[in-house]
Amino acid sequence: MKFDFTYYNPTKIYFGKTALEFLEPELQNYGENVLLVYGKAAIKKIGLYDSVIEILRSAKKNVVELGGIKPNPTYEQMMAGAKLVRDNAIDLILAVGGGSVIDCAKAISVSAYCDGDAWKKYWIDFEELSNKTVPVASILTMVGTGSEMNGGSVITKEEEWIKAGRVFPASVNPKFSILNPEYTFHVPKEQMVSGVFDVMSHLMEQYFSGDDDNTTDYVIEGIMKSLIHSTRIALKNPTDYEARSNMMWCATMALNTITGLSKEQDWEVHYIEHQIGAYTDCPHGIGLAIVSVPYYRSICEYGIDKFVRFAETIWNVEAAGKSKREIAEEGLDCLYRFIVEMGIPTSLRSIGATEEMLPAIADSCLLAGAYKKISREDILTILKSCF
Ligand code: NZQ
Ligand code: ZN
Repeated sequence: MKFDFTYYNPTKIYFGKTALEFLEPELQNYGENVLLVYGKAAIKKIGLYDSVIEILRSAKKNVVELGGIKPNPTYEQMMAGAKLVRDNAIDLILAVGGGSVIDCAKAISVSAYCDGDAWKKYWIDFEELSNKTVPVASILTMVGTGSEMNGGSVITKEEEWIKAGRVFPASVNPKFSILNPEYTFHVPKEQMVSGVFDVMSHLMEQYFSGDDDNTTDYVIEGIMKSLIHSTRIALKNPTDYEARSNMMWCATMALNTITGLSKEQDWEVHYIEHQIGAYTDCPHGIGLAIVSVPYYRSICEYGIDKFVRFAETIWNVEAAGKSKREIAEEGLDCLYRFIVEMGIPTSLRSIGATEEMLPAIADSCLLAGAYKKISREDILTILKSCF
């Protein structure tokens, strides 16, 4: 472990089939005004909305609702929520849904009492959080982002064509999150595989950096193997509880900061996807999957030993008689085949991107990179190669 770190994650997790039982006792810790934030239809379809409302009533809460949060939540929705918080003196923001709903709840929390333009201050200028926030809690219905146990919040400002992510301090994390894998049984397959690839991408963004002997890399490899194994089971049988529960915990672990400890980290694929998302509104994990293999092929020679380790450890590539580059490329071939096996599209064209969009996307991507500091031209080449 090369770099010093402080580890602190205050989110309490209630996991399992009976986890919702803990909502009512938890609600006793907060004041009477609750803002209930949710998406378009899913929580009503799976009956969760009715159960949550009943518990809120029984706990004698005044409930204000903000439904209709979009996948890739917007600045307008964040501002609408911030106004509801102020107008109703909200004591707790309860997010019920996937990453978009939870991200939006955090965005509402930090912007409600912000002096000035919260978007510019926190998502563009990355200023330190300086104002009062409102506690957030979550009930997760979709596996992927890890938002249930981190301070991340990704918001899209549609008129500016910018999708920007921000990791807030742990005080913005959900205070508690309720994770019942059964809620994910009927997530549509496109969303399910998008979430799976998002988890895989979080793990790869952290794994493909550094060349030290780091315990975190072994943790990441274990989560990757469990994720791939359980996904294959859930693809065949979407209501397999054990597979769904493994996937859910893999997702939480993949971005609750434990898999980033003492790691340099990359996040270039995410920076590129955020701008693809700003232009196409594609599901986050689908955009990541399309870009990942060409991106990793373009940087693999700069971190060749780690790509060889990935090929051998995760995909059981046979190394005998092959060069490092050949082994690394075979590992990436396996990753590509896993994407195809899940039924994820592999071209930008298939998610509605046009050729004219590519330079604009490349222009607006943030640049980071771990093994290689890439340029705007490199990004454009990657985008063209998977168009
Ligand atoms: O709108 P509803 O009706 O809720 O339907 C949702 C939505 O259409 C549906 N869904 C959710 N739970 C369901 C369900 N459908 C059936 N049954 C259920 N149980 O799934 C669709 C997608 O939901 P969404 O919340 O958008 O998906 P996800 O969890 O993948 O979140 C994506 C957002 O999170 C951001 C992404 O950029 C994107 O904006 N991210 C957040 C991160 C963080 N906070 O740390 C990190 C990630 O890298 C990511 O950037
Ligand atoms: Zn992600």
